[in-house]
Amino acid sequence: MDILIFFSFLFPILSAAAEPCSITKCGKNEVPIRFPFHQLGKQSENCGYAGFNLGCKSQNTIHLKLPNAREFYVCDINYLDQQIDLYDLDDCLPRRFLSFSLHDSPFVAVFHQNYTFLSCPTQVTMSQLTAIGCLSNSTHSV
Ligand SMILES: *[C@@H]1O[C@H](CO)[C@@H](O)[C@H](O)[C@H]1NC(C)=O
Ligand SMILES: *[C@@H]1O[C@H](CO)[C@@H](O)[C@H](O)[C@H]1NC(C)=O
Repeated sequence: MDILIFFSFLFPILSAAAEPCSITKCGKNEVPIRFPFHQLGKQSENCGYAGFNLGCKSQNTIHLKLPNAREFYVCDINYLDQQIDLYDLDDCLPRRFLSFSLHDSPFVAVFHQNYTFLSCPTQVTMSQLTAIGCLSNSTHSV
């Protein structure tokens, strides 16, 4: 859980909802879920924006489903900075980056950076480069 990605949600925090929406909490860190987010099944969809629906899993984790992507887990939500910190279920964000896009999603990346992934025989890379463990195997280092 040491690698995180950050997305911004750039919506004005102006709630014109007529019904009061309670704040729910979820996850080990007791992350509060409130506007513009809403918890699926617990808060009305009117309590948040479309695409800002979060789920709470039995093992006390919050997840966010983005279009065209598997679920991410939510580490923290900073409502003041309008930033959400996510991590990967399998603790391998580099793998997620190989096929990831925020297209069709209400989120924008806080910053962009290009990466090049190289796959080399393990004996070549071991001494000179740092391999991404979760993408490497016994014969090839990435
Ligand atoms: C990443 O690479 C693409 C294609 O080469 C380029 O258009 C884009 O400006 C690069 N982005 C950054 C942040 O370097
Ligand atoms: C190791 O990974 C490489 C790609 O990085 C792949 O071509 C190769 O088949 C894999 N070997 C094993 C034993 O899984």
